Amino acid sequence: MPVSRSLIGCCVILAASHAIAAQDAAPPAQGQAPAQTQAAVVDVNFITKPYLQLGHIQHKGKLVLVWHALDADTKWQVEYKPGVGRRWQQAEPPLFQPVTVSGVKPHRVYGQALPGLEPGQIFTYRISKDGRVVFESEARAPKGADQPHRFVAFGDCGAGTPEERAIAYRAYLSKPDFVMIPGDIVYGKGLISEYRTKYWPIFNAEEASPATGGPLLRSTLFVAAAGNHDIASRDLGVDPDGLAYFYYWHQPLNGPSSEVGGPITAPLRGPDANQHAFTAAAGRAFPRMANFSFDYGNAHWTVLDANATVDWTTRELTDWVANDLAAAKDATWRFVSFHQPGFNSSKTHFDEQYMRILSPVLEAGKVDVVWNGHVHNYQRSYPLKFLPAQDNGGKPVKGKDGRVPKGRRVGGKLTLDKTFDGQSDCTPQGVIYVVTGAGGQHLYNPEQQDDPASWQEFTYKHVSKVHSLTVADVDGPTLTVRQITADGEEVDRFVIKK
Ligand SMILES: [Fe+2]
Repeated sequence: MPVSRSLIGCCVILAASHAIAAQDAAPPAQGQAPAQTQAAVVDVNFITKPYLQLGHIQHKGKLVLVWHALDADTKWQVEYKPGVGRRWQQAEPPLFQPVTVSGVKPHRVYGQALPGLEPGQIFTYRISKDGRVVFESEARAPKGADQPHRFVAFGDCGAGTPEERAIAYRAYLSKPDFVMIPGDIVYGKGLISEYRTKYWPIFNAEEASPATGGPLLRSTLFVAAAGNHDIASRDLGVDPDGLAYFYYWHQPLNGPSSEVGGPITAPLRGPDANQHAFTAAAGRAFPRMANFSFDYGNAHWTVLDANATVDWTTRELTDWVANDLAAAKDATWRFVSFHQPGFNSSKTHFDEQYMRILSPVLEAGKVDVVWNGHVHNYQRSYPLKFLPAQDNGGKPVKGKDGRVPKGRRVGGKLTLDKTFDGQSDCTPQGVIYVVTGAGGQHLYNPEQQDDPASWQEFTYKHVSKVHSLTVADVDGPTLTVRQITADGEEVDRFVIKK
């Protein structure tokens, strides 16, 4: 079984890395001793232990290993075996970006590209500090286009709750090839301090258990869209360590460029020194990493910034999405992920429908499924097509500031494919919109689960009484999606066939 080894001070902790087999493992037996909590572990080598990212420039068979350490001259060296039976090879010296924002001890975000990984294989890496190995783990290289793959999706997770830990553990048991978080990665403002207490210790826990989470980040690629809580503080005078998404995540910088303060990117606020410290830490990732796309296996993903600070009537933005999807015409699957759903039956956030205006672009781009969060439960729509009302020369009505107001309802013509059931009819006519926002924060509107009369006509399934995550298997022309509770119960399932 793959293992990871973290050498913490003089103590060696062995942790089961995520196993690679495609079947779920059994949870621990009743009565098992409580697992060690992360709070008891002090690591003298890392501020944040290694985690896997796509990198700012995506290359086939490449991942980027990221970790955080003190802002001090240290000789770090990464070695890795790119596949089974391969020899250790030394990576180039890692690059780093200092983070010197007010109120937080200066530290460095190291990024080490791991090129040449053999698709879909388990690989081993180890990190040395000043000549001594301090961390070692196994991980899964990205799958090739001809290999089946599994991803797990859940949003609204980093709340520091028992439910977040249980979902993290279930994700670990599910053995995904990668994890997609459709926003609200960490609560409540996307701060460094919040990542350190509610995200890294749970998704990179040494111990795998429902009470702790699991050692996922070190072995499994994570990808994320930025939710409203991830960008909640743009006043860097109030929160100097806000917007940490832009320096802790290493995701492709292939989205549209934009000016800060323009229709795509809201202005920063706060003292110039604080703004400068933030932009120095984020580098080119701010603001560009707000929108990006990547390929995984035979699927193309487009990840978007749906926050209310963005005007989605901006032609530059919608053209970029249209062109990105058109360029992915050879991919078998086209998935889109953003935080705020346009199609949501919950009473909470019901008015926030503004992403509906993107529907025609997604339909023209032959998108199969949209994965959203923001609403803290699970919902699946019928396959649908939506034409926004032409009440303003073809554009939604804007507010006085020229932007589509947050919360504006978007009327229009809805066409539902009610013959699709994902079992006997697996060929949807339209886009399926999935809300998978039950990743750890408190649930929304549990009373609606058993009250279908309260659902909108586009909703097929509504599970709001229990936390859950999406487990999706992509096998050539077949997509199987299951919604699983923290206890492993399947609460929804559908299949799409090409
Ligand atoms: Fe949200």
